[in-house]
Amino acid sequence: MCGIVGYTGSQEATSIIVEGLRKLEYRGYDSAGICTISSGKAAIRRSEGKLANLERLLKAEPINGSLGIGHTRWATHGRPSEINAHPHQAGSFIVVHNGIIENYLQLRDELKAAGHTFKSETDTEVISHLIEDRRRRTDSFEAAVRLALSEVRGAYALCILSEQEPDVMIAAKHGAPMVVGLGEGEFFVASDIPAILAHTRSMVFMEDGELAVFKNGTVNFSTVAGVELEKTPRHIDWSPHMAEKGGYKHFMLKEIFEQPRAVRDTLAGRLREEEGDVYLEDLQLSDEQLKGIDRVTIIACGTSWHAALVGKFLIEEHCRVPVEVDIASEFRYRNPVIDEKSLVMLISQSGETADTLAAMREARRRGAKCVAICNVVDSSIAREADGVVYTHAGPEIGVASTKAFVTQLIALYLFTIRLGRSRGMMTVDAGRALIAAVVRVPALMEEALKLNEQVEKVARNYLQARDFLYLGRGMNYPIALEGALKLKEISYIHAEGYPAGEMKHGPIALIDEHMPVVVLVPQGSNYEKVFSNMEEVIARGGRVIAVCSQGDSEVAAKAEVALEIPTEGEEVAPIILSIPMQLLAYHVAVLKGTDVDQPRNLAKSVTVE
Ligand code: F6R
Repeated sequence: MCGIVGYTGSQEATSIIVEGLRKLEYRGYDSAGICTISSGKAAIRRSEGKLANLERLLKAEPINGSLGIGHTRWATHGRPSEINAHPHQAGSFIVVHNGIIENYLQLRDELKAAGHTFKSETDTEVISHLIEDRRRRTDSFEAAVRLALSEVRGAYALCILSEQEPDVMIAAKHGAPMVVGLGEGEFFVASDIPAILAHTRSMVFMEDGELAVFKNGTVNFSTVAGVELEKTPRHIDWSPHMAEKGGYKHFMLKEIFEQPRAVRDTLAGRLREEEGDVYLEDLQLSDEQLKGIDRVTIIACGTSWHAALVGKFLIEEHCRVPVEVDIASEFRYRNPVIDEKSLVMLISQSGETADTLAAMREARRRGAKCVAICNVVDSSIAREADGVVYTHAGPEIGVASTKAFVTQLIALYLFTIRLGRSRGMMTVDAGRALIAAVVRVPALMEEALKLNEQVEKVARNYLQARDFLYLGRGMNYPIALEGALKLKEISYIHAEGYPAGEMKHGPIALIDEHMPVVVLVPQGSNYEKVFSNMEEVIARGGRVIAVCSQGDSEVAAKAEVALEIPTEGEEVAPIILSIPMQLLAYHVAVLKGTDVDQPRNLAKSVTVE
């Protein structure tokens, strides 16, 4: 998730672009770069790290021109570095990109064979080379862009310049956001509204498969195939504060609603549907190495530990390897049984959690191979691990983890397929079936997000509760733990997650008419058992908020509230169940008036023991 800004008009482009990038830093801050064109010559400045570094560079080595593009990067392919910073130039073509090009390896090989030399490790650089290459077969910059885009697979928002036609800027969108701002004789392009809100409130939202060509003070919209389009501008009356959060009241809510997109990014370019397998570009473990392990230990903290617990179910079920799950702060001070035949997996959104990092170092000292699931590229854990599966969720700003958690789950499904296939424990058909299940996740999540209003109403009725109990079974038990953690950390209401079958061994004593009990009871192999547990709660006067499959009238008839989620098979239920858990915690917290995005005493990255 990167940020793009473009400008064409009569003002100096640099300051407009840098100001715009500042508003987009929430989308990534691994590097920043800018290109302006003046007298037909492109000048590029790029630097690693936050925008402030680019600003220092621009002060020392200024550039000018009234046409320009800029970028702030959240690394996906290629570590954060100046060489991987955008813009990328090939010949006279300069590109900034947000998204993931799925077929970049294949395109890069073809272009290399045709004599192109690549400087970076990014997927983006293939676009600039592809345009340069296709320009030789076409008669204009625009035609070359159209041809190149017809060959690219994946997600992109692009802004492109060419020294050959220095008065033209082209923007394109497919699967990543792009908005065009209309000014007086000037145009602005950006990944998000806040970047250009100071200049204009008249905006056109580009749709997938569309191109905008800016030339001679005009803009023309068309499809990539060349069909002209009439686009109607919208007036945006958001305050700058609202715009920062995409119109949502909090980053947490924005991130909850971003999850279908985040999951698509986690999957992008990785599925080998025909083979029933996946490609994990940075895993760095051969089939032989994966076959050689005799156990898996997954280590994490907090929400990431809940993802690890789901991972245990997945890996044991599909790969038949014993899996142990450990809390990092416990693991590092035990004398764990770990050796060269162990695979240790670390799960960490930030990749900087001190306990998880220390646990990994301990596991490596004992000879284990270590694989990390991380969101932040090139973070300490990602760098020190033998291999990584990046989640590609984009920066998570809300302290309570939402989209990072869900994409960790997706990464675990992908890893399970890879492990199962490499060890011969998963057939091609079984691999295909699991891939088909994860591919349906974004659409199911979109459906589940429609519960938002209902959940808000439910939240109003339970605000006064002092405690909540969350019950789930099997793969959904970790989601009960996660639901309880979300509620605790942002609403400050005490909550406990429990395996539903354990309830009668203690927590049942807590149940009375004041106790809300969230019961995760979707259709699936544990359905009847959880249903009985729910009845046990009701019999003791507990107030059941059931989360069940759509159309389950039996649950709806028994529970005080039924939140119905779309479940197609139980395979991906934990992911879909997470949505009402997040929404419930969010709305309770908002109604209680807590600081949802920065709850008291918590930090986004826990770099101390
Ligand atoms: C809860 C939450 C924390 C983190 C934990 C680990 O919403 O975000 O529990 O999951 O601090 O952080 P990472 O995943 O960065 O290692």
